[in-house]
Amino acid sequence: MTDTPGMNLENIQHHALEALAAVRTGDDLAQWRVTHLGRSSAVMAVFSGLGKLPADIRPQTGQKANQVKLELEAAFEEKVVQIRQSELSVSLQTNRVDITLPGRPARRGRLHPAMQNLRDIYKVFAEMGFQVYRSPDVETDEYNFELLNIPAHHPARDMWQTFYTTKPGVLLRTHTSPGQIWAMRERAPDSIRVILPGMCYRYEQITTRSEIQFHQVEGLMVGKNVTLADLKGTLTDFSRRMFGQNVRTRFRPSYFPFTEPSAEMDVECFLCGGHGCTVCKNAGWLEILGCGMVHPEVLRNGGYDPEIFSGFAFGMGPERITMLRRHIDDIRYFWGNDMRFLEQF
Ligand code: PHE
Repeated sequence: MTDTPGMNLENIQHHALEALAAVRTGDDLAQWRVTHLGRSSAVMAVFSGLGKLPADIRPQTGQKANQVKLELEAAFEEKVVQIRQSELSVSLQTNRVDITLPGRPARRGRLHPAMQNLRDIYKVFAEMGFQVYRSPDVETDEYNFELLNIPAHHPARDMWQTFYTTKPGVLLRTHTSPGQIWAMRERAPDSIRVILPGMCYRYEQITTRSEIQFHQVEGLMVGKNVTLADLKGTLTDFSRRMFGQNVRTRFRPSYFPFTEPSAEMDVECFLCGGHGCTVCKNAGWLEILGCGMVHPEVLRNGGYDPEIFSGFAFGMGPERITMLRRHIDDIRYFWGNDMRFLEQF
């Protein structure tokens, strides 16, 4: 019979559509496509057998095969949409949303108390014309010590217990003072008024009052005719702006290899008003920073002629200030990442 291939094609189509109707999942559908539209499917076999057919039925069969293929493809596309929808509704059934439940509150982020305090400090110094200057946490022995007038075997090195790296001469800065050299070498011979905030590292026992990492805020002013009076005035003014107009301060002589003369500044304990309490250990005063006039040797290392230029420098421990302002009695809270602590600020 001449119309056998046509009949055959109808069977193929019928058979394929029947199979398609039984398909329920995406995986089965993919398999169906391979079986009924793939390279070794029955429709494709008709195409590849066309050449062997008698010439008179060849065009008609080809046309019919093409039509069947297109219809199967259309049925396939329709099924894709159908399965996608039924899978979605199953997931809506099983993952039901209870729209009457109250929403979860979005947590508000906040700045770490140490950072809040640093920003207060930046603000006060900005009002006095100090720019923020950054210098590296990983330093060389040369910058951290040598250029600050602390040679290798100087006993003053014992003031800073140091984390050394495996690379000779490379260490984690023990204070922000090496930043003085960076700032001077960049700015010389112009005048300088900067603060240098940053993390410092010391190889020390961790206690309630000392950590192996902590911030410092260094200050540096270099110019012509910068005097000790400028240092005192700047730091006294800073304390008033930071702690209140009536806070009293005092300077005590001290020693640092990179300043001469050197001093430490205490502020009146603003918790007890100087009467004595546990925070100030009944002294009535709290030490918050070291300072002094930049040593001529250090000025020279920074590229300034100490005959013409002078400067002052200071280094304060902002975590100590935060502890005092916020009544925090253990410095280990700062880097302990305990949310119960952090959320209080
Ligand atoms: N770098 C000193 C310290 O870590 C503090 C300091 C800075 C003292 C600048 C004087 C001048 O203790």
